[in-house]
Amino acid sequence: MVKTPDIRVTPPGPKAKKVVKLDKRYLATSTKSTPLVVAKAKGSMVWDVDGNAYLDFSSGVSVLNVGHCHPKVTKAIADQAKLFAHFAGTDYYHQLQADLSERLCRLAPGGCDKKIFLSNSGTESIEAAMKLARWSTQRKQFISFINGFHGRTLGSLSLTASKAVQQERYFPSAPGVTRIPYGYCYRCAYHLEYPSCGIWCAKMIEEVHFDTYLPPEEVAAFFLEPVQGEGGYIVPPKEFPKTISKICNAHGILLVDDEVQAGMARTGRFWAIDHFDVVPDILCTAKSLGSGVPIGATIFRSELDWQKNGAHSNTFGGNALACAAGLATLDIVESEKLAEAAERKGRYLNRRLRELEERHSIIGDVRGLGLMQATEFVLDRRTKEPAVKARDAIELLAFKRGLIILGCGKSSMRYIPPLTISKEMLDAGVDVLDGAIRDVSREMGIR
Ligand SMILES: Cc1ncc(COP(=O)(O)O)c(C=O)c1O
Repeated sequence: MVKTPDIRVTPPGPKAKKVVKLDKRYLATSTKSTPLVVAKAKGSMVWDVDGNAYLDFSSGVSVLNVGHCHPKVTKAIADQAKLFAHFAGTDYYHQLQADLSERLCRLAPGGCDKKIFLSNSGTESIEAAMKLARWSTQRKQFISFINGFHGRTLGSLSLTASKAVQQERYFPSAPGVTRIPYGYCYRCAYHLEYPSCGIWCAKMIEEVHFDTYLPPEEVAAFFLEPVQGEGGYIVPPKEFPKTISKICNAHGILLVDDEVQAGMARTGRFWAIDHFDVVPDILCTAKSLGSGVPIGATIFRSELDWQKNGAHSNTFGGNALACAAGLATLDIVESEKLAEAAERKGRYLNRRLRELEERHSIIGDVRGLGLMQATEFVLDRRTKEPAVKARDAIELLAFKRGLIILGCGKSSMRYIPPLTISKEMLDAGVDVLDGAIRDVSREMGIR
């Protein structure tokens, strides 16, 4: 295991040296909610340019499952940089690219008769899946889910339905996408109760959509996050992904599993879909695969392949530094048994969050799989009115007290520390969170 530094959460304020001379004028479109200027990071800790230490419960937005600057990743990148950094991955071969592709194909659910297309990001892994699905089925339409997030380039954006601002002024993106409600039991779109609902949110696809306007034989692919990420860390009922998979099989529709945020051992299994006994046709991964070096991968059944040179390609896919980082990351996940660690630590974190739920009425729901945990904040547990301002205030106050957390969905907060985090650090983070929730609730008059 990586030795993580001692927890030394220095509150900013008078102790901060204020050496920041960062000019923000040249930075386009910013979603920054906390004024953090990072200087260095190690394990589960991050230091800003003033020397303040922070506990990272965000993993750089789900990118550092193995922790910041894991020595094996750092060494693999440095060693490769001395040999060659890049040689167009889709035009020439190199060993690391072949090795990483083989490892990932063997890891993907459903046997290893697979192929892979390497890219640089989550959104590109989805773009490749969209193009592959259209190419191989010669069908045009797609289905995705409300609260789903698949990226922001114009193809993947057409599948995304997480926040209206992500779509504003961009219409038309790709045509032919139907977005339907997800299995979000805490806020069921049909106001039904699980399990008496009979998973209507999945079954209605055939009974309503296919029956009235969407011929299933025109649908190329269904895009599914096994646990929704940006949309609020929503865990569907156990039967939901399986029901979607059965519908896909019945109509020759490809099932695309978006593991960009939930994959790489985060949920306690290597892939989040492994919790649901479903084998997708195409699997997309990115984020934590490169431990900080940009990479994306689209893994698919061999027979779906484009089989025509140039039908899809890019410059940086299979980049040597990214492949070196990816291979080192897979080694670490395996040798340090990070899926098991995520399962064990996730159970503990979930228990601690449930203790907070008992103390703070602003917590309406606690949910998650493995170390992909979240709380949803509400002003009133009966009406479930989203506590958006309170959520944002808690995020900022926690940051000021040394804990980096990230909102998701309308009023939820995600807790995704590196899978290598210690129990002591988990406790330290939950204690900061507890205090932030208490003080914000008091300030806003929420009992
Ligand atoms: C589930 C999911 N898919 C796709 C993406 C897009 O990935 P990227 O930001 O690397 O393009 C994200 C990003 O958060 C994601 O969470």
